[in-house]
Amino acid sequence: MVALHIGLGAVRMDTSLETPRFARRSETIHPSGTSMAQIAALSVNLDTSSVIDFTIGELGLSPSERLTRAAVTALENGASRYTDTLGHPALRKILAAEFSEQTGEDWSVDEVALTAGAKPGLFFLGQILLDPGDEVIIPRPHWQTFPTQIRLAGGNPVLVDHDPAGQLNIPAIRAAVTGRTRAIIINTPNNPTGVVYTEEGLRHVAEIALTHNLWIVFDQCYRNFTYGEHVHHNIVKLNPAIRQRTIIIDSFSKRLAIAGWRLGFMAAPQQIIAKIRAYQSHITSCPNVVGQQAVLTYLENGGDEFVDVARRHVGDNRALGLNILSALENIPAAPAQGGFYFYLNVSELLGGYHGKRHLVTVDDVSALLLADARIATVPGTAFSDPQSIRICYSGRSVDLDAGLQRAIATLNAVSRSVS
Ligand SMILES: Cc1ncc(COP(=O)(O)O)c(C=O)c1O
Repeated sequence: MVALHIGLGAVRMDTSLETPRFARRSETIHPSGTSMAQIAALSVNLDTSSVIDFTIGELGLSPSERLTRAAVTALENGASRYTDTLGHPALRKILAAEFSEQTGEDWSVDEVALTAGAKPGLFFLGQILLDPGDEVIIPRPHWQTFPTQIRLAGGNPVLVDHDPAGQLNIPAIRAAVTGRTRAIIINTPNNPTGVVYTEEGLRHVAEIALTHNLWIVFDQCYRNFTYGEHVHHNIVKLNPAIRQRTIIIDSFSKRLAIAGWRLGFMAAPQQIIAKIRAYQSHITSCPNVVGQQAVLTYLENGGDEFVDVARRHVGDNRALGLNILSALENIPAAPAQGGFYFYLNVSELLGGYHGKRHLVTVDDVSALLLADARIATVPGTAFSDPQSIRICYSGRSVDLDAGLQRAIATLNAVSRSVS
């Protein structure tokens, strides 16, 4: 606080005292665990160029050339003004058709919004759906942004553990419903676990939402990435009765390898989209025009061939990574059914030693991997899970190969006593 001292006619400003206080709300928010891990990777006292970063979930691929050219053309043609608050109607029309195909239900342009990434869309939903003290059920482990945004809206996240296979624990979800529950968040394929929810689990969640009059926030940002017998199910397709209570969240970040362009989208009942319009009009005004114009041109002229390129890249990396990780001792195989994360349960290592280094928590395991293997991973504490670490495998194959070989050497050297 700047204070004025008045004495003998002299006025002195004392700037050594504290600054004005911050809002209490801001004390509860921290950078996401993923970005913290990235910062740690960049700030360790190592030659940072030798650290391989497995923290951030984005593709190690350039976007489609056709898409990049469309962005350049958009700029050359003067794409520089605000668009409709909810995004370009022609692009929303294409997305409405995609949602209709995925769900078997008709979605109109007025039921689709583009946002500056899926994250702000989810943030607006917290503001729109929750009054202070309202509860939202989130299966745990969970993407850290979900509970943070709920808290910022004054709501209470209610974390419900997955079952041992990482699937939805239906009896536990049912038992968690109270008179204050407003919504359930479902993210499949799941970040961080890499599990794809079964049709049966999703059908049960739909029934719970109908019985208790709840919203379903259905985040399918990783829907293009599933492997083997695991397939992505859209919950509205499984039970059309929930269409009017479901918000489907999606994004171009992973699908088109344009995470930094910030383009997400959602389908929701028209009243929700109208409220998104109101929020977005005061916050970002609209998603970025160049990205919108480029994606529109790309999708209008020849569809989305990049999906196959991205799938092949991530699928090849997954096979490479699972093969290397099969050499791990004392750590069970990662589920890796969908998305692009290896989620490793390292609880057998806790209490052990690497040389003289004692591993007490999963944060210690991530710190060890950073210091010894020079790879950055996200400890499960970022996902409310004290047993696991997350490794993103969607980056460059050459880095994945080198980094995982180093991880194996480090983790297999952990023993039960000081060496
Ligand atoms: C589950 C999940 N939902 C949404 C997003 C947000 O994606 P974006 O804001 O880049 O569209 C992410 C990003 O990592 C995610 O993992």
